[in-house]
Amino acid sequence: MNALKKITIAVGTVAITGFSVGALAQPHGVILPAFKEGQYVHKAPTVDDINADKSLHPELRKVILKGRDMFMDTQKYRGKYVFNDMSCKSCHMGEGRMAWSGPVWPAATTLPDFRGKNGHVNSLEERIVGCFSFSMNGIPPAYGSDDMLAITSYHQYMAKGAKVYDSNIAGRGFNSLGNQMPKDISYEKGQQVYTENCQVCHGADGAGKKVDGKVVFPALWGDNSYNWGAGMIRVFTAASFIKNNMPLGQPGRLSDKEAWDVALYINSQERPQDPRYTGNAKETREKFLNFHKFSMYGTERNGKILGQHDNTGSKPILKPELLRPRSFE
Ligand code: HEC
Ligand code: HEC
Repeated sequence: MNALKKITIAVGTVAITGFSVGALAQPHGVILPAFKEGQYVHKAPTVDDINADKSLHPELRKVILKGRDMFMDTQKYRGKYVFNDMSCKSCHMGEGRMAWSGPVWPAATTLPDFRGKNGHVNSLEERIVGCFSFSMNGIPPAYGSDDMLAITSYHQYMAKGAKVYDSNIAGRGFNSLGNQMPKDISYEKGQQVYTENCQVCHGADGAGKKVDGKVVFPALWGDNSYNWGAGMIRVFTAASFIKNNMPLGQPGRLSDKEAWDVALYINSQERPQDPRYTGNAKETREKFLNFHKFSMYGTERNGKILGQHDNTGSKPILKPELLRPRSFE
């Protein structure tokens, strides 16, 4: 509890002074999973590398840096591409480079590929369209647009030197705890874990924290969080992310069970509608069961069916046009 107390005090300071939260990311006995044998390790270039790379045409450097800026401060595009409090880096920490925090560059070396979520072959652009549509509750930049070029360039450059079409990548994803929820998973215990470990930053109402209109701690539920169709809505995905990334600066501090419980708690709270909504949450759950069997969407909690509503948050539409099926027959 001492470590938690310390971080609580530090957070108080952040809130008052508005200093970067990066200062909090101090190791409190950080425990991260080891890489598996035979996996290849890629060190994605940093912003200093981008600036120092003499082989880059200055015009290309500008495009990559613009893409990086879009990734780090997606909030600049609030009301255009993003309608919640997220930036890409909210879930892809360490600039999208960090192991076990969903590093994004593997998408540049393993796509195009078939994706179960939408049942067809996806390009890198389309993968990014997915995170804009669900995780950011947004309207993605158009295929082939200047902004799409910038953000894909950042992904592609981070993959510099990595093997193409080799998916045995060390540190990819969040180091899954496995997709089977433990039998004794508990909403009530999750609430307790939340109060003790998360509330200080993410708020009692899950809405996070803003200072001078800038997001300091992103929302975990409510209108400004990821929507019901986001990858993070799957309880196992959230549990794995949390286990290895949260509380901020203390990855590995929660037990696996605590991570599962708190993930269930967070992902049983209301949030903007899944863009694939048919008008009925139970029906939508059935239609996309390969995805939603891992979420609480369309199930009952406290006497209500989760996700049975027309609320799309501040996004003016339900489904972005760019989310469309594709077939080669
Ligand atoms: C709310 C959390 C969240 C936010 C915000 C988010 N993502 Fe993701 N992203 C995920 C999750 C979860 C996955 C893994 C999804 C899966 O397993 O299908 C993922 C996967 C990806 C991948 C594929 C990585 C791989 O290993 O192939 C890319 C690329 C990506 N995101 C890009 C982005 C971009 C660009 C943004 C900002 C526009 C963004 N994400 C915002 C949660 C998020
Ligand atoms: C010290 C403050 C702090 C604490 C404590 C903390 N977080 Fe976070 N959390 C953050 C910050 C900051 C980010 C965004 C990371 C970034 O932008 O670099 C984040 C991101 C997240 C995200 C992904 C983005 C989103 O909003 O959905 C989840 C999920 C999350 N935290 C869950 C938790 C859980 C669960 C706990 C408790 C076990 C917790 N956090 C404790 C600061 C904190």
